[in-house]
Amino acid sequence: MSKLNELNYDVMISEAQISEILTQLAAQINRDYADVDNLLLVGLLKGSVVVMSDLARRLEGNIHFDFMTASSYHGGTESSGDVKIVMDLANSIRGRHVLLVEDIIDTGRTLSKVRELLLTREPASLKICTFLDKPSRRIVDVPVDYVGLEIPDEFVIGYGLDYAENYRHLPFIGKVNLS
Ligand code: IMP
Ligand code: MG
Repeated sequence: MSKLNELNYDVMISEAQISEILTQLAAQINRDYADVDNLLLVGLLKGSVVVMSDLARRLEGNIHFDFMTASSYHGGTESSGDVKIVMDLANSIRGRHVLLVEDIIDTGRTLSKVRELLLTREPASLKICTFLDKPSRRIVDVPVDYVGLEIPDEFVIGYGLDYAENYRHLPFIGKVNLS
């Protein structure tokens, strides 16, 4: 039996639905940044890698990538309030138009901390794009400019999202049955 069978899950968002959501997100972003020459996508590792690569391929103009790792997790399904920057960006964002790309916003703690840090570096603009949002779980308020899909308070895996580092490679979003 493969490891993937250890966790019981149902498909919540199919590959086709993911593709539609990304196309809509990209249309909004392309419209809003039509006059911006050099948009910098900042992905939070590791979860956002998958959505960022698919989103970027739908964006127009000159797009740059950078990544950082913020850790607030300790292996389980609950985030802690203690957010650490484990790996910082490779380049300065001063004067740059920055779009932070996240896989999912849960309590908002991670993104709020990262956003505050990036704002101190004086980007020309800073917006946030998340593929999934669990608004009912929010503890820290954080302004989100682009949301792919709002979902209820469920633990989800796949499409970059992990459970103890597994399942990130699944091409769909699965809802974990925690019973
Ligand atoms: P927050 O700081 O509570 O908003 O947590 C955000 C981070 O927690 C995301 O970037 C994910 O890495 C992780 N996370 C939150 N909810 C889920 C989930 O349902 N499945 C997998 N990871 C999650
Ligand atoms: Mg994670």
